[in-house]
Amino acid sequence: MTAPMILQEVPDRPAAVPQAVLAPLSRAAIFLVVSIKPGTENRAILRTLCADLSGLVRAVGFRDTEAGLSCIMGFGSEAWDRLFGQPRPAELHPFREFHAGTRHAIATPGDVLFHIRARRMDLCFELATQIMERLADAASPVDEVHGFRYFDDRDLMGFVDGTENPQGELARDSTIIGEEDLAFAGGTYVIVQKYLHNLTSWNALSTEAQELIIGRKKLSDIELDDSVKPTCAHSALTVIEENGKEVKILRDNMPFGRASQGEFGTYFIGYSRSPRTIEQMLENMFVGRPPGNYDRILDFSTAVTGNLFFVPSATFLDDVADPSSEAATTSPSTASVRDGSLGIGSLKGNNPHE
Ligand code: HEM
Repeated sequence: MTAPMILQEVPDRPAAVPQAVLAPLSRAAIFLVVSIKPGTENRAILRTLCADLSGLVRAVGFRDTEAGLSCIMGFGSEAWDRLFGQPRPAELHPFREFHAGTRHAIATPGDVLFHIRARRMDLCFELATQIMERLADAASPVDEVHGFRYFDDRDLMGFVDGTENPQGELARDSTIIGEEDLAFAGGTYVIVQKYLHNLTSWNALSTEAQELIIGRKKLSDIELDDSVKPTCAHSALTVIEENGKEVKILRDNMPFGRASQGEFGTYFIGYSRSPRTIEQMLENMFVGRPPGNYDRILDFSTAVTGNLFFVPSATFLDDVADPSSEAATTSPSTASVRDGSLGIGSLKGNNPHE
């Protein structure tokens, strides 16, 4: 299994361990989105699952440690308020929609995301089953997508997907929150969108026309030269610069589908230190940079879901208080008075506001 990364320990501040955001691309994945039902008892079940999740992953993952099972749990804006209250992650908000012409980056319901990855689908499936058993009647399923790797990491449009992902330190710097939101250091943001492709019309295009839309060669995956790559190519519109420096995100898109139903899709999942980066990419794709110069992938692909989640650190999840204890029934700020923390795992015993 992937070794957990520990953020550098600052004097008088215990380090927060991120969830398995930086786990390598896997052969199989399940993307599970659920909505929490109203009621304090359901809130309590969710909170218990937060603290128990790492144990569940260990138990299922130990059945084949080579398969690298991991699970990331993220929370939507409203769900955060219901489950944890204040303080809240600085940039957590509902998914921002983009609309232009017939193109629509739609926002859809969903409180909690489980991004489950492994080399074997059976492990992913077992973990999803265990999670749903724990949730019992406390949550309703909103969406479940089983993703698979397709040949050499290609999407169903036939292009290699994931090449320009940052690696190592750059991946960590691009995703894991640090000093900008100290209370939530070790966390990250994730945006998911489920896309359905019209492969009949896509495959009617010549390979050369497809390559101009993506901005890379189809067979070799080599990037097109700037002299021929259109400014509306997918791999041009998704390059974001801030203060002259490129800002990266970490993607782990997966193909999915049902051949007999003519369903062919890409599940887009992007992790980022700030949701602004992915929102900017979405604006460039859907509205265009400049407006009108939009991503032609969208002439062949429709986004049918859209959610933004905050992914707290693993330390935070492990430390979510047992709901049967007093801490769960008091607000985090009341709890902080009792144990000297903000009720946040990464800050236990270290309340900067004291
Ligand atoms: C229909 C859905 C999508 C498909 C099939 C798709 C496919 C691809 C492919 C084939 C590449 C080139 C290889 C690579 O570097 O990975 C790519 C690059 C990229 N995509 Fe997507 N993508 C989709 C949606 C999105 C969305 C919604 C975003 C962000 C909001 C996004 C962000 C990126 C980024 C940042 C790159 C790398 C650009 C670079 O640095 O060259 N993609 N995508």
